[in-house]
Formats: sequence, C-alpha cells, structure tokens
Amino acid sequence: MTKKTQVGIIGAGPAGLLLAHMLHQQGIESIILEAQTRDAIEGTIKAGVLEHPTVQLLKQLGVGERMSRDGFEHRGIELAFGGKRHRIDLHELTDGKSIMVYPQHEVIKDLVAAVLANGTTIEFGVKDVSLHDVYSAQPSIRYTKDGEARQLQCDFIGGCDGFHGPSRQAIPAAIRQEHLKTYPCGWFGILCEAPPSSEELIYAQSDRGFVLISTRTPTVQRLYFQCDPNDKVENWSDDRIWAEFHARTEGSDGWRVKEGPIFQKGIIAMRSFVCETMQHGRLFLAGDAAHIVPPTGAKGLNLAAGDVVLLSRAITEFYRNNSTDRLDSYSSTAVKRVWRGEHFSWFMTTMLHDFEGEDTITRRFRRAQLDYVVSSRAAATSLAENYVGLPFPGLE
Ligand code: APR
Ligand code: PHB
Repeated sequence: MTKKTQVGIIGAGPAGLLLAHMLHQQGIESIILEAQTRDAIEGTIKAGVLEHPTVQLLKQLGVGERMSRDGFEHRGIELAFGGKRHRIDLHELTDGKSIMVYPQHEVIKDLVAAVLANGTTIEFGVKDVSLHDVYSAQPSIRYTKDGEARQLQCDFIGGCDGFHGPSRQAIPAAIRQEHLKTYPCGWFGILCEAPPSSEELIYAQSDRGFVLISTRTPTVQRLYFQCDPNDKVENWSDDRIWAEFHARTEGSDGWRVKEGPIFQKGIIAMRSFVCETMQHGRLFLAGDAAHIVPPTGAKGLNLAAGDVVLLSRAITEFYRNNSTDRLDSYSSTAVKRVWRGEHFSWFMTTMLHDFEGEDTITRRFRRAQLDYVVSSRAAATSLAENYVGLPFPGLE
C-alpha cells in the first residue's frame, strides 16, 4: 500500500509530534510513523523540566492547558556543595523568567491528543522503517505495519526518531559531521512515593559524586545519583540507595532527603553528541536524532523544540513562497542553538560531577567555579539565563 503526504515524520517523540502540530497549524499535512505503541510513548518516564521558551511555545500552540494547570513553576534552583545549599534566583536574575516541572510523558499525551484531534494520522507499531530517494524531489519511507509492506511518499522527511533511529544513518557517513563525548559516569534514577524533599530542584556536588533532587508531583519524587555507567540496578537495594543519598547530601543545616517506597530504578548514560549535518537533500533531522546532551542541564526536550520551530517555519515558507532559503540554512541555524545547549550541559556536568582518577587541580578548579557561581551576580546570571533557556531564534 502506498500513501502520500506533504511531510513524512519518523518518530512520535516531542520533536515529531510538535512538528506535525506546528505544520498542521500552517495548513501543511503530515503523517507520523512510530515504532512503539501509544501506551508505550505515553507511559515512559523521561525528564521533567520545560524551559521558559518551551512553556511559551506550548501555550501559543494551544497545548499548554494541562501543563499550566498541573505543572509546577519553579523560580529558582539550589546548588549544594561543601555542606551548604545556595539558591540561584532564576526569576530575579532573568527579568521574571522561570521553568516548569511537568513530565515529558505528559507533554507527549497533550501533543498526541492535539495531533490526532486535528486529523493527523499517527501509525503506531510500525517496523522496518527505511528512507529512500532523500536526495530527490520525491523521497519516500518504506515500512511494515501488521506484517504488510507499506510506502509513504512525501515532499520532505522529518527525521525525529531519536538517537537510535534510522534517519541519521540515511545520511552517508562520509558527509556526516559528528562529535561525541562519553562521560565516565551514569545517573542512577529512582521514582519514589514521598513528599518533596525540597521546594526547588537541588543539584548537589560531593566527594562521593553528584545528586539531583527533582520532583514530579506532591506525592512522587524523582531523584538521581551519579554512578558507574556499567553498574547494575540489581546491585542497589532500597536501603543502599537511601544510604547513598544521605551520605552525599547531608550538611551542617540538618536538611535530609525524605524517603519513601521506590517504584522505579534505572541507569542513564551520559553523552554529548552532535551531528552537525542536520539536512541531507529533503531529509531534515530534529531533536535527539541529531543531538544528545547529558541530563544535567535539563535541555534534551528543549533543544528538540528549538529545532522544530526552525524546521516548521522553513517548510511553511517553502509551501507559501516557494522559497528554499530557510530550508537551505536550517542546519547551520539550528546547530548554533544546539551548541549553546550542548556547552551549557557540559558546563553543568563538569562543574557538578567528580570523576574517578581526576587530579587534585581539576577538583580545585571545580570548587572555584562553584564558589564563583554562587558569589558573583554576573556568573549566576549566566547560569540562570541558560537554565531558563535562551529565546528560540526569531520568537520573542
Ligand atoms: N521507526 C519509527 N519510530 C522510531 C524508530 C523507528 N525505526 N526509532 C525510534 N523511533 C521513535 C521512538 O520510539 C520515539 O518515540 O522515535 C521517537 C523519538 O523520540 P525521542 O527519543 O523522545 O526523541 P525526540 O522527539 O527528539 O525528543 C527529544 O525527548 O526522549 C527525550 O531525551 C530526549 O529529552 C529528549 C527529547
Ligand atoms: C528530572 O526531573 O528528571 C530532571 C530535572 C532536572 C535535570 C534533569 C532531570 O537537570
């Protein structure tokens, strides 16, 4: 069976769903092909921080209602080190901006509902997706669904299939400009039933390693501690996990992490990756398909949103004015914002994590940087404006 559409989108993550929604609002039709089921994409727990421009975008697109009602606005974060906690007042340092704690899978639910309501097709559970003729005016995507071979012909392909998807691989390796850094640590993440330990997120550096105290709801908390990337979840009993959180975070002020039943455990790899070649012919990469950040800066979803803003505008201009200017400059424009987010994520990661085998001078540099960030308004402002998110190009 062969179908036709204007934009064939691979992947119903934040990037693919946002792209379909923004294109529809400009009268452009798309079809999304997704490997997983709807339940799986709506139920997988991922990150939870939306930066200011992403919050504004979701509101402008008419998909911010539940987020505004059920999300939690945070106006500051805390940095903990040397036995003390220090507040970075994001709101005051950025002329009134803030972040929203609202789980990514809730964003996915809102976007899936909006995209389906506007008549866009999402084909869930597709297999064997492959890209063809991306360097021609009529690219196509072949796939199987329920055992049947199918084809989608389109004008453009949105490669929104995450780090492991086939889109990036459809660009010949010889022309892909790629950069990769693997950090010698992972994050051990848990979800637990407990009240929040803190009103704001705490990023804690200690000699035993990093800890992040985050939250999901008033009764569900998301906490992480730095671990060996090759460690196994089975090695960590609940008691051992809580002992590690306490050992890494307790200081002179009597503050303690609040314990509760743990109902999910997992280990996350820490990588910085950028494929600067975000376009090849009529294939355009967006989101994790083109770049990955370590989670310390909370930038993953927000960088994906920035790509999609540019890409939807470029495709719209093509259909409206028959102009390829924005399409031609997509890669070079998008990658600038990506590098800013990549650098910030690396900066937060190296400032807050101790790595085994480091020399003592590197540890002293880290402490000097932390002391600077919490004592200089200029340094704190720089962290704050990156954390709440720099404007999407051309918006605001
Ligand atoms: N065929 C179809 N769909 C695929 C394929 C494939 N071969 N491979 C991957 N996908 C789907 C995945 O199942 C997933 O739903 O593509 C989607 C990609 O979504 P994400 O990985 O969430 O990537 P993206 O939309 O770029 O969002 C970036 O979301 O997952 C986080 O860490 C990520 O925060 C970042 C943000
Ligand atoms: C999360 O809540 O999952 C989270 C928050 C902040 C980060 C990373 C992850 O920097």
